[in-house]
Amino acid sequence: MSYLTDKLRAPYREAQGEVTVPGQMFDEIVAANPARRTLLKNSFGLSILSVFGATSLAACGSDGDSTPAPGGGGGGTDPVGPDYSVKFERLADKITADTVTVPKDYEVQVLYSAGDKCEAGSAGYAGTPQSWPDTETQAGGQHDGMHYYALDGVDPNQGGLLVLNHESTDNATLNLTVDGTKTRLSNVGVSVVEIARGDDGSWSVKANSRYNKRYTGNTVYNVGGPAAPAVNSTRKVVGTLNNCASGPTPWGTYLTCEETTDNYLDPTQDEKGYGWVVEIDPYAPASTAVKRTAMGRFDHENTAYMTNEANRVAFYMGDDGTPGCIYKFIPSQAYDPKNRAANLNLLDEGTLYAARFNDDGTGNWVELTHGKNNLTLNAIDPGNYTQTAPDKAPAPVIVNFASQADVLINTKSAARVAGATLMDRPEWITVGVDKTVYCTLTNNGSRKRTSAANPRISNSHGHIVRWKERGDSPLATTFEWELLLLAGQDPADGAAANVTGNIQGDEFSSPDGIRVDPQGRLWVQTDSGTGSNITNIFGNNSMYYIDQETGESRRFLVGPKGCEITGIAYTPDLATFFINIQHPNGVWNTKRAGGGDARSATIVVSRKDGKPVGA
Ligand code: FEO
Ligand code: CA
Ligand code: CA
Repeated sequence: MSYLTDKLRAPYREAQGEVTVPGQMFDEIVAANPARRTLLKNSFGLSILSVFGATSLAACGSDGDSTPAPGGGGGGTDPVGPDYSVKFERLADKITADTVTVPKDYEVQVLYSAGDKCEAGSAGYAGTPQSWPDTETQAGGQHDGMHYYALDGVDPNQGGLLVLNHESTDNATLNLTVDGTKTRLSNVGVSVVEIARGDDGSWSVKANSRYNKRYTGNTVYNVGGPAAPAVNSTRKVVGTLNNCASGPTPWGTYLTCEETTDNYLDPTQDEKGYGWVVEIDPYAPASTAVKRTAMGRFDHENTAYMTNEANRVAFYMGDDGTPGCIYKFIPSQAYDPKNRAANLNLLDEGTLYAARFNDDGTGNWVELTHGKNNLTLNAIDPGNYTQTAPDKAPAPVIVNFASQADVLINTKSAARVAGATLMDRPEWITVGVDKTVYCTLTNNGSRKRTSAANPRISNSHGHIVRWKERGDSPLATTFEWELLLLAGQDPADGAAANVTGNIQGDEFSSPDGIRVDPQGRLWVQTDSGTGSNITNIFGNNSMYYIDQETGESRRFLVGPKGCEITGIAYTPDLATFFINIQHPNGVWNTKRAGGGDARSATIVVSRKDGKPVGA
């Protein structure tokens, strides 16, 4: 959740009696924790380490990186092709330049900015703030999660579909005095754009592509799954918003994730309509996107999937709440790789689980099915007890789960009732090629009670957890986990325990975006505070390569002032990376003379010699 979203949602949170999300709002309290809790470091011992020891590149079924075009045009990489070893020269510490900084031999291009033309015929922002309806067909603001799709008959290393989320509004591009609500709602949602690489190597949006499309806060969505009738008797909802991160499916659709459980931009809409995963078919611009209620309603971050040989699939999902749980949804049926149409309602029926991270390094997936695990009438919800000291435990609340629809609409409560572990704001999840699953826990500055998986009170800088499913199966109900790293300052700084990490290499705060690419290389992006008390320590928000064996991090990219770095996508040859720059606030990427309208944007990062990114 960006700090801008957090501000917009604050009145709703307060009305709900929730603690305001800290994180980016919490610049000021970073060094505040006096508690000297010993850092959990390598404390899970050999039994767990043995699970994570090897990184074979053999397995299939990770993160959708080989998502084919419907007709089979997409593709993987040549197994005897380029050298994918990571050799780039690390960037310096504490970079605060108002530009995108990349290693020597790399270059950066701005591809698609807030207000740019999207649908054919759109006008495009040219420096004068605009209003609905112009804004309805142009790029939204606050670019976030993203995925790249191959197109039939097109070399995917030269062109394809880029689908990206717009988490919030880029207000400087908007004239909110005209149709203010509609204008704001038109600036969120999703963009689908066809992009292509020109003869000079630069990428651009194909202006008149039939695929170019906006899904906005004003668009009508269908609602599917067990809670659909309870959400709306017409099974339709107006608007998607707070589209944070996202993920692909094995059948080539796009899951945009709503990181809000109300429509704070238009409170006249029933809040039950928001907080869902929404499935979009980027290849079918005339189709209606569908909110998939079977996957639960919470502050969704992204989705990442794991498959098995029988084409069964699990989708992993984080709830970016303070605190929030980690979820897994397993559709009841296998997907059919030969019949795409047969998969298009697969997400309406299945089983939802939440994760319990036991202190001994084992874990359980707790089923969130009505009638099981105390999900009944008169269930006792312990509340967000991790945010209070033991002697100030919140009074349990009685919650009635009369049906599966109740479980799915009130998923956060259901997970707590069922005994899932409250985590430090789960952001992105990624499934590696060896089927290790990683999740960023971005931070939780107001945590007051720890667990082994969340070992720091006042966790200002976050950590990364990883797990292996039993038998590497997406259907497993148990797993083994460990902490990959605790983010924060170098122990040599002598700072308080809650802000000291154990990162080998380049230190950072507040991991958010994370993805293992098809060559098994782990990339992490940050969303920490952007005040000088943070940037003086960590520099601007950045992107890192992390060695999965040693946990060593290497700084790859640093963003301009005020931004977070998010959205990781790439061409199959990994020579082109697409990355999102969200909420820059300096003079980078401005349209107006003198600035004042620094725009969120998708950028292209590549090597000047065309070798894979990382070289
Ligand atoms: Fe939109 Fe949790 O970041
Ligand atoms: Ca974040
Ligand atoms: Ca995020």
